[in-house]
Amino acid sequence: MEKLFVNGGNRLCGEVKIDSAKNALLPILAGCILVEGKVVIKKATAYTDVEAMCDILKSLGAQVNRKKDLLEIDCSSLSACEISHQLASPVRSSIFTLGPLLARLGRAKVAYPGGCDIGLRPIDIHLTALKELGCKIIEKNGYIYGEKLKREKTEVFLSFQSVGATENVIMFCALLPGTTKIFNCAKEPEIVDLANFLNKCGAKIEGAGSDVITVCGVEKLYGCCYQAIPDRIECGTFLIAGAMTGGEILLKNAIASHNSALIEKLKTCGCLIDSGKDFISLTAPKRLESFKEVETSVYPGFPTDLQPQIVAFASVANGCSLVFENVFENRFNYVGELLKMGCDILFKSSICIVRGKNKIFGADVVATDLRGGASLVLASLVAEGYTTINRAEYIDRGYFHIENKLAKLGADIKRI
Ligand code: UD1
Repeated sequence: MEKLFVNGGNRLCGEVKIDSAKNALLPILAGCILVEGKVVIKKATAYTDVEAMCDILKSLGAQVNRKKDLLEIDCSSLSACEISHQLASPVRSSIFTLGPLLARLGRAKVAYPGGCDIGLRPIDIHLTALKELGCKIIEKNGYIYGEKLKREKTEVFLSFQSVGATENVIMFCALLPGTTKIFNCAKEPEIVDLANFLNKCGAKIEGAGSDVITVCGVEKLYGCCYQAIPDRIECGTFLIAGAMTGGEILLKNAIASHNSALIEKLKTCGCLIDSGKDFISLTAPKRLESFKEVETSVYPGFPTDLQPQIVAFASVANGCSLVFENVFENRFNYVGELLKMGCDILFKSSICIVRGKNKIFGADVVATDLRGGASLVLASLVAEGYTTINRAEYIDRGYFHIENKLAKLGADIKRI
């Protein structure tokens, strides 16, 4: 069990570099299954979820080598099309292998995915789309058995703009003869990044970033060298950390347009924010104002992956804030831990009412999931006294040694 130990109260100042996006790296790793040749991924941050995905690829027979943050993946010869429960259950992204395995090998047996407990997280949209594109899918004993048969349709409509389903279907179609039009696609920057990666390998994908994506299947994909986009959720978390601590920070390798929903909110709370091609700077006011209301939604709306962090922010801003969670139905598990720190939060089903306090206090708390864990770290930075955050391994799924970057900015934080 990993623990973080924080002595709150320090103002964050200085510069940090944002890592590559976890949610871009994970589908890109699944996309490697489609490629006959070596893929080199530069700046492949070793998040624990990324390492878990590498283990999945190795179990399929892929050659995977990591040299610091350079990852080489060669799926030229795959020896298996099955992903065990043991490998699939720690991560959500294991389901991303289904489309690529069916496309490349024609068959797949994949155990149900795991991931953070933030709701039911069904995979019906993934499976319905694959069925409509001619796959036989059977769910039995905790596994999804898939077989690629004859294509039935050239168009699919996703019933919700699911990020994972959009990615799975794009990857399946990349090697499917003929042209497929996918309607009601998710528009997240990580989808554009996946399409850019696959296109660099020789795929023909158009429209990523809009709600209609067209994929013209090719016979084969070839290796390439790629670097994923910066992590907009890590970036957002650090912007919020800077704001909450009254700090002045510069984030390098950060794309402001990917975080526009958050940046607009922070500006209304009194933060001065400037940005250029690959940086964002933030200067916080002495006393933060509340943002009044935030509603999570699909991109370009306010990201659900920043909802717990913005609740921590609201806990120390001046006034009352309302937070509506519209994407996942059970994403307030962490609130009980913030209450232990003296935060004033009421929540019912998908709504949180947060009253900002002048002071919150350090406590012994437990991370309940990745982003919920990040919200506890943020609260601990401004809490009076010491906070111990237990189960910090959740945080490591999507932040690479968060304590090192925060310490560089002046926080008193260490791993114990
Ligand atoms: C991805 C991200 C996750 C982020 C989420 C929403 C990765 C590895 N994870 O997760 O960090 O929080 O996008 O931005 O990229 N749904 C269904 N049926 C399906 C699929 C989804 O009902 O088949 C529902 C989900 O339960 C949820 C909503 O759709 O309520 C959004 O899910 P989705 O966009 O698929 O999220 P993920 O791909 O799981």
